[in-house]
Amino acid sequence: MKQRVLSGIRATGRLHLGNYLGAVKGMLELQDDSKYETLYMVADVHTLTTPYNVEELRKNRREVIIDYLAAGLDPEKSVLFQQSEVNEHIELAFYFSSVTTIAKMQHLPTFKDKVKQYPENATMALLNYPILMASDILIYKASLVPVGIDQEPHIEVAREIARRMNQDYGTDFPEPKRFATKGEYIPSLTGEGKMSKSVEGSFINLTDDLETIRKKISKVPTATTPGGEKSTGVQALFAFLRLLDSQKVAEFEAAYENGSLKFSDLKEAVTTAIYVELKPLQEKRKELEANPTYVDQVIADGATKARAIAHATVREVREKMGLL
Ligand code: ADP
Ligand code: TRP
Repeated sequence: MKQRVLSGIRATGRLHLGNYLGAVKGMLELQDDSKYETLYMVADVHTLTTPYNVEELRKNRREVIIDYLAAGLDPEKSVLFQQSEVNEHIELAFYFSSVTTIAKMQHLPTFKDKVKQYPENATMALLNYPILMASDILIYKASLVPVGIDQEPHIEVAREIARRMNQDYGTDFPEPKRFATKGEYIPSLTGEGKMSKSVEGSFINLTDDLETIRKKISKVPTATTPGGEKSTGVQALFAFLRLLDSQKVAEFEAAYENGSLKFSDLKEAVTTAIYVELKPLQEKRKELEANPTYVDQVIADGATKARAIAHATVREVREKMGLL
């Protein structure tokens, strides 16, 4: 039997380069490997865990599917769906919450970060975030999850829940592992922390045109640090080059070492490399925007396929937990 793969991205906005290199590239790699059966969703229910706008959510959850298709996720090879259309995810999350302690959830670094970011909104939904994510993965008995490195604590929770459920109720959930890409940690354009849509000025959108990319890259701070170490901004520029145009790295490294590097040249090389990577996605996106019935069909078919698997797992869990 093929190994299952599940991943998702929240519907909080349009995808950025960090999402693409850290998560979507991994999704693509596994989709194109016949050893795997791949399911990719937009985590629209997870969007409810932090403050959001209803109309924007309605729009964004479709936009993420369009971004997936533009990036090359293929409904002939992967099941592409919206999490909210498979109610069983929420049901299974409740069953999983019975084997998960409050203390464990409160101590997760991802929970603490979000509480810091939204101190007025430390809701039960936010506390339950990792349980719902475990349900997303385990409902398909997926053993591999392509996501960025920041998601590791959540995958660990999924493993613990799988273990507890198997021990206490005799289920056969796999202990899922993260599938890492070379871009598992994409730095912020500000030179501090990771690229993230919640940090203004940190990201490049997949839909940014050449001029927008150039303008954003021009703002990456390149001031030198004492001792000749590369500043974090310069490190970020090199990281982009290494991922997107690795042949140029040696030349720029040598120039850096002998002091002849012009940061404007490095920035132009990075700008071009990003644009070349994104241009085909942007062209594909235009085609998809002109064909809404196709997108609707992909979403409807994905839900039907995902529901069939999810339904069977939940039935099995209900039976094992004494609810059937
Ligand atoms: P954001 O932090 O911008 O809100 P999400 O939390 O929605 O992004 O992340 C969606 C997916 O993209 C996850 O798999 C996450 O690990 C990945 N991802 C997000 N930012 C980065 C980054 N800077 N580098 C690598 N992967 C990332
Ligand atoms: N937590 C993930 C993120 O921040 C989104 C997500 C929800 C997810 N459910 C998932 C990722 C299941 C992988 C598998 O983007």
